[in-house]
Amino acid sequence: MTNKINLKICVGTMCYVMGGAELKDAIETLPAELTEHLNITYSPCLGCCETQRPPLIEINGKRIAGVSKINLIQIVKEEIRNAV
Ligand code: FES
Repeated sequence: MTNKINLKICVGTMCYVMGGAELKDAIETLPAELTEHLNITYSPCLGCCETQRPPLIEINGKRIAGVSKINLIQIVKEEIRNAV
């Protein structure tokens, strides 16, 4: 695989209190064989918490709302599978 997958997790207030904190913990405890494929950044607000259900993430430019910890891991694994 050549490019890393860009994963942005929103940790703005709305997202953080609605589950973003858990997403951050989940990502930080992922095994290295998954994180080595990721370029992880955090956003102070993806600008759509008023219109979409927090917490939000963006993965390779796709914005996904209402992400749970389990969703997040599945989304990341799927994105890695599709990229290799
Ligand atoms: S706080 Fe997450 S999109 Fe605004």
